[in-house]
Amino acid sequence: MEIVLISDGPLPLDSPVRKLPFFFPARLVDMAKVSKRTVGAAQVAVVELLDATDAGLTALKNSWDTIAEIPVFCLVSRKNRREVIQASALGKTEPLERDTPLSLLVRTIKSKVGFDPMATVPRSVPSKTLEAYRKGNAFLESMVLSATDGSNIQINLMNESAKEILAALSLDGIGPWMEAVQSHHSGTYCHSLMVCGIAGLFARHLGWKEADCVEVIAGGLLHDIGKMRIPLTILDKADKLTPEERAIIDKHPQFGREILKPRLEVAIDIKKMAIQHHEFLDGSGYPDGLKASRISPKVRLMTICDIFTALTETRAYKEGLPARVAIDTLKQMGRKLDQDMVDQFARMVLDRGFGEVSRATGPVGGRAAG
Ligand SMILES: [Fe+2]
Ligand SMILES: [Fe+2]
Repeated sequence: MEIVLISDGPLPLDSPVRKLPFFFPARLVDMAKVSKRTVGAAQVAVVELLDATDAGLTALKNSWDTIAEIPVFCLVSRKNRREVIQASALGKTEPLERDTPLSLLVRTIKSKVGFDPMATVPRSVPSKTLEAYRKGNAFLESMVLSATDGSNIQINLMNESAKEILAALSLDGIGPWMEAVQSHHSGTYCHSLMVCGIAGLFARHLGWKEADCVEVIAGGLLHDIGKMRIPLTILDKADKLTPEERAIIDKHPQFGREILKPRLEVAIDIKKMAIQHHEFLDGSGYPDGLKASRISPKVRLMTICDIFTALTETRAYKEGLPARVAIDTLKQMGRKLDQDMVDQFARMVLDRGFGEVSRATGPVGGRAAG
C-alpha cells in the first residue's frame, strides 16, 4: 500500500502533507512528473496546490488520467478562490481544507485505503510482541499529532505501550521485537521503536526496578519527538547530508524541549531523555553542553542505546555496522559516555543470542545522529 504526494516543487513548509509519511508509505512526486511510472500502484493521491505554478498545473492536468482511477484529495484554502477553481479544473477530486487538523486528514485517507501497519509484520512474530508493536506504533502516531497540533501527549497510551513492550521483551526476547519493528515503513518510527526495545532490555539487564524499565521504554518512544519538526526530505534523505542539513537535524533535542515544555503531563525524567540524549559526559554534546554531574543514569542509558541503534541500523545511505563494531565505537568514545555502563551494555549485546539476531535480521531505521 502506498500513497503519492504531489506538489509543484518541494512541499511547502506550511503543508500538512509533509507529515503524512509518518502515517503511510508515501512517495513525493513532482507535479510536472506525474506519470504511470511515478504513480505506480499508489492507492491514493494527495495534491498540494499551495504555491503551484500555471506550468505545474497544466502538466498535472495533462497527466490526470494516470491518477483518475484512484481517490485524489486536493489541499486548498477555501478562502483562496484561485486554488478552489484550480482544484475543480483538474478533474474529479475531493477538496480538503489545508487547515484540516492532521488527525482528520489521516483519518480521511485511512477511510479510503484501510491501511494497517500490522500487515507487513512477519507472520513468525509471536502474539505478545505483535500486540506490543501495535500499541507502540499507535502511540508514535499519536505523538506525531501531539507534536504537530500541540495537543496533550497520550500518557495512558504511552505507559500502556511501554509496559506491554517490556512484557513482550521478557516473554519473547529482543529478536521478534526487532523483526516486527523493522517492517515499519517509517525510518524514524523504526529507530524510536528499536531504541525503546534496546533501552528496556538494557535497563532490565542492569537490574533496574520495573517502573524505571518502563520509564526508559517510554523515554525511548519519545526521545526523538523533536524530529517531527524536521522536514522528511532531510530526515529520510538517501544521500549524505550537507553541513546545513546536519545543523537542522541537530536542532531536534531543542525542538523536543519546545514541544515538551508545556506538556506538564510528561514526567521530568522522560523529558530529560528527549532533551538530553545527545549530551556527552565531558560537556561536548548538545543542546546545552551539560557535564557528567548533570546527566542522570536514565539519560546516560538512553544515549548509549541511541548511538548503538544509529550505528547498527541500515538506511538508504549506509549499511549498518555489526554489533561488535558498534560496541568498539562506544568504547572508543571514551569519556563522552559512561564507560561502566558501556561495559555492561557490551556484555548484554555480545551475549550470543542478541549478537546473532542483530546481524541476522539486519539493523533498522534512523539516522546516524540518533
Ligand atoms: Fe536524537
Ligand atoms: Fe535517536
